[in-house]
Amino acid sequence: MQQPVYENAQEVDEVLQNLAQLPPLVTAWEVDRLQKQLAEAATGNAFVLQGGDCSESFGDCNALAILRKLKVLIQMSLVLICGSKQKIVRIGRIAGQYAKPRSANTETREGVELPSYRGDIINRSGFTKDDREPNPQLLLRAYERSGLTINYIRALSEGGFADLHHPENWDLEFVRNTPGSRRYQQILESLSDSIRFMEVVTSGELEQLSRVDFFTSHEALHLLYEQALTRTDQRQSGHYNLSTHLPWIGDRTRAIDGAHVEYFRGIRNPIGVKVGNTMAPDELVDLIKVLNSENTPGRLTLIHRFGAEKISSKLPLLADTVRRANLNVLWSCDPMHGNTQATRNGFKTRSFDEITSEIITAFRIHRDCGTRLSGIHLELTGEDVTECVGGPANLTESDLPRDYRSQVDPRLNYEQAMEIAFLLSEQTRPGT
Ligand code: PEP
Ligand code: CO
Repeated sequence: MQQPVYENAQEVDEVLQNLAQLPPLVTAWEVDRLQKQLAEAATGNAFVLQGGDCSESFGDCNALAILRKLKVLIQMSLVLICGSKQKIVRIGRIAGQYAKPRSANTETREGVELPSYRGDIINRSGFTKDDREPNPQLLLRAYERSGLTINYIRALSEGGFADLHHPENWDLEFVRNTPGSRRYQQILESLSDSIRFMEVVTSGELEQLSRVDFFTSHEALHLLYEQALTRTDQRQSGHYNLSTHLPWIGDRTRAIDGAHVEYFRGIRNPIGVKVGNTMAPDELVDLIKVLNSENTPGRLTLIHRFGAEKISSKLPLLADTVRRANLNVLWSCDPMHGNTQATRNGFKTRSFDEITSEIITAFRIHRDCGTRLSGIHLELTGEDVTECVGGPANLTESDLPRDYRSQVDPRLNYEQAMEIAFLLSEQTRPGT
């Protein structure tokens, strides 16, 4: 499902052979490290923060955009650490989030019908026949852009920028003098105090605080690409998708007898699967058994995305059924994809209030069911875009044209994302 049809099969083969020769983007050791951290989260000892663009674009592969995405996720994680008192597993929708499933195969504008835009790895977003033709060379461009992105992320997260001894790297830029920014400032100050205290007590600099762990993820939609980046481990203990740490299956391609599930069950990475409104309890149990046949904690993250309105009627039965079947899964909430709506002025948007409502309801339902919400999955950016309505600056539909950049789904902007971090820090506070 959802695979592009290329005109020139031989060119596709050549590109795939080329890709298969190129070095992997991540290593099996890193993937195993993430698996361990997700196991901790699944058993209640950590929380997963996963976020980034709906779809990365080649044009946005630049220093500032990457830095800002990393920065907002690290800042959100600091807020979450202070609230939850737990380890936060940081995962970007980044360095490979280039393929998009679409509900319709074609798009019509003013009477002209063309193939849908399917992400920069497949075709281009412009509305000409040429732009929309799937081009196999874009697979290589996407691999290279992913490599450039992950290279910069590694450099930033290994030291200097991500050094918690230097809170001056962590200011909120354009979010100033708001209640949120003042709360954030207090968190930073208390964090600095704690670091100084610990260093006095242990008489030395805490090395670990000069770097952060950061993992990558994307929807592994384009199976030929994912297959070309799937390698046997150096220790020969199985196959790993080394294009990313955490690949996930989208809601449209999770059929139990489909090609995506068949591919995913054979890789050793921790994996995610989106769970939408059409998922039946029995179907979910069967899917979990196929995807996590050894019932390993942390192997499988269920990312539910029902929408603020439907979550109460859908989640309780699914959570309860999975708990009764003694299946080890990590529950994460995607409060974005069930809350997308079209505005009168022709934008796709999401309401901040619906997003927060779905999050709060998700925490409550899991608590009531005896399961635990251990992660959040967000579409966000570190920029001051105007794509979702509401939030601290109370954006309205008429604000959307000001800086709407997404080619696909609307993302939380910097200030909205930080506000969600405060909400999560309250919801994950010990004893709540
Ligand atoms: C997405 O995460 O961008 C997406 C397409 O989600 P879903 O598969 O849940 O619709
Ligand atoms: Co999306």
